[in-house]
Amino acid sequence: MIKIAPSILASDFSRLGEEISRVERAGADMIHLDVMDGHFVPNITIGPLVIKSLRKVTELPFDVHLMIEEPDRYISDFVDAGANIISVHVENNPHLHRTIEMIKECGARPSVVLNPATPLNALDAVLGSVDMVLLMTVDPGFGGQQYIESMTDKIRELRQTAVKRGMKLDIEVDGGIDLSNIWDVTQAGANVIVAGTTIFGAPDAEEMISSLRQKAYGGHI
Ligand code: DX5
Ligand code: ZN
Repeated sequence: MIKIAPSILASDFSRLGEEISRVERAGADMIHLDVMDGHFVPNITIGPLVIKSLRKVTELPFDVHLMIEEPDRYISDFVDAGANIISVHVENNPHLHRTIEMIKECGARPSVVLNPATPLNALDAVLGSVDMVLLMTVDPGFGGQQYIESMTDKIRELRQTAVKRGMKLDIEVDGGIDLSNIWDVTQAGANVIVAGTTIFGAPDAEEMISSLRQKAYGGHI
């Protein structure tokens, strides 16, 4: 089952609530919210206060991607604000099990994120504790970047590992996904697709989401 998660990073920030309602009506399955602190990544975006006020406009799951230093300090704030899924990077987190447990205890679903240059074996110790992994397909920090082609093999390898272990793993991909490559990533094994510029930049979000969905199944729907 393919899920489409528009990233609001590419939306009009002066009208965030309306933008979320717009993609909800257009058929989004969840909303991807990018939290950046200007340290872990060069950009700065939103925090729990904004997420809390956006929580009022939709019942779609909030998929919160934390690109911040010391994420443990803010997990409960993000869950209280309405995060349903919290994704934390392995690159800045020496106590990943603790963070994963904290996310679960707070009542959200944990997911672990790898940057493009981080090898899959960084997941070895935690793959038994999560049922979702986010593979970055661009270096995080900005929307509108180009998909890194070598990530297709990485997705395939992770899917093969999950199948071998009998795991029902959600593999989310994030960065540079558009109509030209969505079939590559879903064929390789990704099933949760983040798209910012492709959806918010389209003249008609509904048409774009349905085209993405169609291509994600190889045109077979
Ligand atoms: C990048 C963010 C992405 C970004 C994707 O650091 O994690 O979620 O918004 O944007 P597009 O789809 O435009 O590459
Ligand atoms: Zn993201």
